Amino acid sequence: MNQEKKAIIVIGSSNTDMVIRTRKMPRPGETVLGGDFMMNHGGKGANQAVAAAKLGGRTTFIGKVGNDVFGRQTVEMLRGLGIDVSYLGVSDTKPSGIALINVDDSGENSIAVASGANAELSTADIDAAEEAIRNAALIIMQLESPIETVTHAAKTAKKYGVPVILNPAPAPAHKLPEELMANVDIIIPNETEAEIISGIGITDQQSELLAINKIHAMGVKTVIFTLGSDGALVCENGECEKVPSFKVKAVDTTAAGDTFCGALCVALSEGMPIRDAVVFANRAASISVTRMGAQQSIPTRDEIPME
Ligand code: ATP
Ligand code: RIB
Repeated sequence: MNQEKKAIIVIGSSNTDMVIRTRKMPRPGETVLGGDFMMNHGGKGANQAVAAAKLGGRTTFIGKVGNDVFGRQTVEMLRGLGIDVSYLGVSDTKPSGIALINVDDSGENSIAVASGANAELSTADIDAAEEAIRNAALIIMQLESPIETVTHAAKTAKKYGVPVILNPAPAPAHKLPEELMANVDIIIPNETEAEIISGIGITDQQSELLAINKIHAMGVKTVIFTLGSDGALVCENGECEKVPSFKVKAVDTTAAGDTFCGALCVALSEGMPIRDAVVFANRAASISVTRMGAQQSIPTRDEIPME
């Protein structure tokens, strides 16, 4: 049945996450003796692909790994979940991506990423997948891949009328290229990312609306702010509605945003209206924060209660 659906194409990074849980985050120059160590599959792109697949979407992942044990494990794991990895390339020169993650007792994290092969995902790799993109339900991207590649993929999808979703994470250093924003249909930033993209500091409702309208003016019809435990704010052409999340005890918020994005793609690809899709995404992400790790914390479809 999955084969009859149009594919959700996730273009982005895969990393191996090296996670240490400590009582509190170490400050610069400080050593905190930690608790457990875990090595998990991660990377924003791969996390979103895994979320889409676990939640019932037919999923294709376009990315790049190194010619090493981490890369081989990543490919095997994605394939095991039924994700199409035909366009997942192997770099001859760079190692697979690695993320060093610290999670504290409150469930907060800090992350440092060595991009490795992820930084080699090129416009030529997108061209090689053009036929798949042309036939997709939608594409989703993040910012752990080169910005020229992300921009090129957005233009390619738009050429065929395929909806483009951008999760501008991690927060970019600067505003995003106009050429990219003009080809994005739905953007899913958290508050920090929205501030950088819009160039407006968000301090209250008025500045929030200003930032949203600035992003709309860049050509993006739908803006979805994720608000952590508060859920999400959905805005279409300046009309906004807050969609609350579900009350849970957060253990580790790593990949909450990725779960939200992957779930949203599944819901939209099934034709759900945007508000219902955000409820579904909140539900999936709220489950993910109750568990440790990135991909292993993402729920399967049968864990999502029917509304
Ligand atoms: P991260 O970078 O940690 O993956 P993010 O900053 O991209 O997250 P958030 O806004 O923190 O994104 O979280 C994304 C979504 O996850 C929220 O919109 C919400 O649905 C869910 N979520 C996050 N934290 C909680 C929480 N404590 N309780 C319930 N839901 C949560
Ligand atoms: O969004 C969470 C992800 O960010 C982690 O899995 C880590 O690999 C980094 O890319």
